[in-house]
Amino acid sequence: MAEIAIIGGTGLTSLHNLKILRREVVHTPYGEPSGPLVYGSLADKQVVFLPRHGPGHTIPPHKINYRANVYALKEVGVKKVIAVAAVGGIHADLTPGRLVVPDQIIDYTWGRGTTFFEDSLKQVVHIDFTTPYCEELRQVLLQASGQLGLNTAPRGIYAATQGPRLETAAEINRLERDGCDIVGMTGMPEAALARELALCYATCAVIANMGAGRGDQALTMEQIESNLKVGMEDVRHLLEMTIPLL
Ligand code: HPA
Repeated sequence: MAEIAIIGGTGLTSLHNLKILRREVVHTPYGEPSGPLVYGSLADKQVVFLPRHGPGHTIPPHKINYRANVYALKEVGVKKVIAVAAVGGIHADLTPGRLVVPDQIIDYTWGRGTTFFEDSLKQVVHIDFTTPYCEELRQVLLQASGQLGLNTAPRGIYAATQGPRLETAAEINRLERDGCDIVGMTGMPEAALARELALCYATCAVIANMGAGRGDQALTMEQIESNLKVGMEDVRHLLEMTIPLL
C-alpha cells in the first residue's frame, strides 16, 4: 500500500523518475477523480501519483473535482500528500524557476465543492485551519531542498484565485496588499479538503512567471511552460530526495 501521494500540477502531468507499476480507476461518492491513480516506486518507495488537471492536462482549475481527488487518495490508504503547483510570483524575490513551500493560504476562489461536511450531518463540523499545511511535511521538503542546495523559499502566503484567466495588474497589487507572496489557481479547496480527511498535506510551488504587471513582458503560455520546465526538474529531484525521508 502506498501512504504517500503526489498531486502533480501544470508542468508535472507525468513523473519521469516514477517506475509505474499499475493504474487504478477509483469511483467516489463525489464523482470521478481527475484520472486513474498511478502507482509506482520513486526512490524505492511506493507512491501514488495523480495529475490534478488529468493525464492529458485538459481539466481547468475551476472544473477539477477536488473532492473526488482527495477522497480517492484517502480511500486507498494515503496518509501524506505532496501537492505540486505552478504559481505566479508576487514578492519580488520569488522569480521564475524558484521553488516555494508556502505556510499560509488565502482563498479567493468561488463556486467549487469546498467541503465533505455538508449533507446528512449529525452535527455541523468546523475544522481547525489556522495552519493550513502540515508543518512536519513542510519541514521535510525544506530539509530535502537544503540537501540539494536549492534556493527554496521556506514560507509564503499562497493566494488561491479562481482562474482560468490570469489576474489583472490591479488584482496582483491587491493580493500583495493582502500580504500574498505567490498566486495560483488550485491551492483551494484542495488543502482544506485534505485537512477535513486528516491527511498530512503540503505544497511545493514552482514560480512559472511574475504576477501580471510585474514583469516587463505580457504573460504567454509559452513563457510559462518554458520556465516551468526548469523548475519542474528541480521538483523531480526534490521529490526523489524527500520521499525516503518520510
Ligand atoms: N496566476 C495564477 N495562477 C498561476 C500563475 C499566475 O500568474 N502562474 C501559474 N499559475
